[in-house]
Amino acid sequence: MLDLEGELEKRLLIAARKVRQNAYAPYSKFQVGAAVLSSANNIYVGCNVENVIYHVLHAEKNAIGNMVANEGSGAKIHAMVISVKGDIPPCGPCRQDIAEFAEPSIPIIWENYEIHKVSRATLGELLPSVFTKEQL
Ligand code: THU
Ligand code: ZN
Repeated sequence: MLDLEGELEKRLLIAARKVRQNAYAPYSKFQVGAAVLSSANNIYVGCNVENVIYHVLHAEKNAIGNMVANEGSGAKIHAMVISVKGDIPPCGPCRQDIAEFAEPSIPIIWENYEIHKVSRATLGELLPSVFTKEQL
């Protein structure tokens, strides 16, 4: 796994925890906060945003969208951190969203915010046999 410096991981965790509070999740009541570190060393955040027809923007995709909007289509993800209730890593579609902009070696870090338990894996561990644009 690419090593994240402790201070940097802390900053990402704080950012994910903070943006989780802005989640708009009146239907699921499940709030998610995400903080992505770009290869250009910037932090972008995102929260989940729901609506009445249950079309849902996941926190991870929101953060990735912010990264691309700010850095352009060449942007790359260096780390993804999320803050949730429970020991819940990013869902399947979010793993594929991350893979679009990341190497398999990047760290995915998820925090159970209620007990401040932090878990880590690489993207490759969470999404083996990934489908990439090179295979089209
Ligand atoms: N959610 C995320 O934002 N990211 C995930 O990877 C898991 C699920 C959101 C979507 C929905 O608003 C709520 O959590 C319950 O699924
Ligand atoms: Zn997801």
